[in-house]
Amino acid sequence: MIEQGDAKQNPKNPKRIIEGGETSDIKRTQEITLRPQNLNEYIGQKEVKKNLSIAIRAAKKRKEPLEHILLHGPPGLGKTTLAYIVSHEMNVNIKMTSGPVLEKQGDLASLLTNLKDDDILFIDEMHRLRPAVEEVLYTAMEDFGIDIIVGQGPSARSVRLSIPPFTLIGATTKVSLLSSPLRDRFGNVFKLNFYTNDDIFEIIKRTASILKIEIDDTAAHEIAKTARQTPRIANRLLRRIRDVAEVKNQNKITKEIARSGLASLGIDHLGLDQADRDILEFLITKFNGGPVGLNTISAATSEEQNTLEEVYEPYLLKIGLLERTPRGRIATPAAYDHLGHTQHQNELL
Ligand code: ADE
Repeated sequence: MIEQGDAKQNPKNPKRIIEGGETSDIKRTQEITLRPQNLNEYIGQKEVKKNLSIAIRAAKKRKEPLEHILLHGPPGLGKTTLAYIVSHEMNVNIKMTSGPVLEKQGDLASLLTNLKDDDILFIDEMHRLRPAVEEVLYTAMEDFGIDIIVGQGPSARSVRLSIPPFTLIGATTKVSLLSSPLRDRFGNVFKLNFYTNDDIFEIIKRTASILKIEIDDTAAHEIAKTARQTPRIANRLLRRIRDVAEVKNQNKITKEIARSGLASLGIDHLGLDQADRDILEFLITKFNGGPVGLNTISAATSEEQNTLEEVYEPYLLKIGLLERTPRGRIATPAAYDHLGHTQHQNELL
């Protein structure tokens, strides 16, 4: 329930509640123009697209707002892009915010009361919502209402305030941290998976054509192999390699330019950068391959535990260089191989 007077925004930065994130305006504009506008343009994630398409068509036919949608999976796989696509396909407005930005119940209440019928509210990093703020979402999602306490002391009473019917699209990289009352209120739950190299290749070609970058197919394949099966990384690599071509006075990205760009970025053939290699190197050389607790890895590599878990580890786990056990992280034989270390008998898993 919300105490009266709780609905103030942060006076130092009143716009933050909506804007969230750290992305600069220029970068955001570029990302938005690169973003596919509808499901047909969106490459990969076939299952998710199929089910979203059914949900969208059914809601339109019934002239109802879409049921709430939870998107989860590692960063950079297109959760925000899908939210934009849903708003576009449903022809409704979307307001964007994120879990940690909503500091007080009133922050969320003021967003909810300002929605128009059928609008979409997108909350990124749902797992970082404060429990008190999350509680406001329960009645909002279920009954399109929020409870407000009016008055003080013994005469205080609770009043239900109606809010417009809306669709919440929640995104999270750590679905396991969502409470079950919150998870259960999403009618649609979709997991985004890492992309195939073929899908990443298509995404690189699409981005190159939007940005008017000439690129050989062999070069696009080369970049695709090292993009950690993640569109955001593929697009970033493409832009950096375009810079390399630019300073070499080349108007086309060839395989050679792609290779030299990747090498100068310190990215190896599996797509690992120096930070990934440092993690594995630490496990192997300081702890005989592990198991090592996350806090120890964090102290040694100066990376936050959250960043290790949400950014670095998913891909290292996916390609089998790292294993998570109850006693900590372990470098696999493939990690020893990749970094050119010999695994001694007493270190074998
Ligand atoms: N750009 C980033 N992700 C994309 C995707 N899945 N499809 C098309 N373009 C993209």
